[in-house]
Amino acid sequence: MRAPLPFATVRPTEDGRALVILDQTRLPEEEVERTLTDREGMAEAIRLLRVRGAPLLGVFAAHALAALATNRVATGETDPTRLRAALDEDVEVLGATRPTAVNLGWALERMRGALDEWSAANPGAAADAVAAALRTVASEIHDQDRRMCEAIGAHALQLLPATDGPVTVLTHCNAGALATGGIGTALSPLYLARAEGRRLRVFADETRPLLQGARLTAWELARAGIDVTVLTDGMAGALLSSIRVDAILVGADRIAANGDVANKIGTYGLAVLARRHGVPFYVLAPTSTLDPDCPTGADIPIEQRREDEVRSGMGRTTVPADAEVWNPAFDVTPAELVTAWVTDEGVRRSWS
Ligand code: MRU
Repeated sequence: MRAPLPFATVRPTEDGRALVILDQTRLPEEEVERTLTDREGMAEAIRLLRVRGAPLLGVFAAHALAALATNRVATGETDPTRLRAALDEDVEVLGATRPTAVNLGWALERMRGALDEWSAANPGAAADAVAAALRTVASEIHDQDRRMCEAIGAHALQLLPATDGPVTVLTHCNAGALATGGIGTALSPLYLARAEGRRLRVFADETRPLLQGARLTAWELARAGIDVTVLTDGMAGALLSSIRVDAILVGADRIAANGDVANKIGTYGLAVLARRHGVPFYVLAPTSTLDPDCPTGADIPIEQRREDEVRSGMGRTTVPADAEVWNPAFDVTPAELVTAWVTDEGVRRSWS
């Protein structure tokens, strides 16, 4: 399937020395592309959520390593050993930006490992060949992410009811095309269903405090012509009490070895509501989001973000100065609340 929307979340420039991203902090008001040329700008783009979503962080990081190496060669670096040492620093700096999404470290290590393999097979290769090898691996990682999104969508489509009326789903945060290098994870079956001409009604949680559901999910679904309704996070219980929702679809930032799922803050509450109302709760994620080295959800590092996002995130002060703010970016949904995990490899209904 072709990408549902005419935008690229990240792409290298023609000369491979920089990256162009769609700046997600500016949506939905403006579609602004931003060109990133240096490591600090790339790290900042991750920290500020100009690029975000677990699979996209991996794709972006892979392209970033390739662009930084290409730029060093273009500005005179000829020593492959120094190029390799600089890459180690890049891995450190980019890897330290956000802790929860495992795809970021996965892609960085995959790039480093692929380069070591390539260098062992090509001893004495020149610096420009090393940079070219990195660009090739980055574009393979990007292509793989596209394929994974399609496969997740195809598997998850089988879980949606075959009904004449609209299929009604609820989603949280943004696990769509904006969060990946392809058609998304949680939203991918919706794009495939839409391509088949099926009727859909999507409810998107606003997703406080940074509003990825309202700003991003609603933007991309509406642009694809899919019926989308935004509700604030606190309204989900009332929604499930008042209408029949066929499924809740969410993405993941990391899935622990026991099936516990870290995803955007508010996902756990939705899973509890889903159980209360008998609505299937599906987690859709590529295999690059599985972390076999993390035994349980309790071992997943949870990013804490700046309090201003809650204190004044709406453009005005919403919390009095003498009140404290707690702002974890993610929560953990225990495996027992997940109806099924859908990866590019298929549908898994239990983890034991
Ligand atoms: O803080 P964000 O916007 O990067 O959080 C994104 C999410 O929690 C997504 O649901 C998750 O990364 C899956 S994206 C396919």
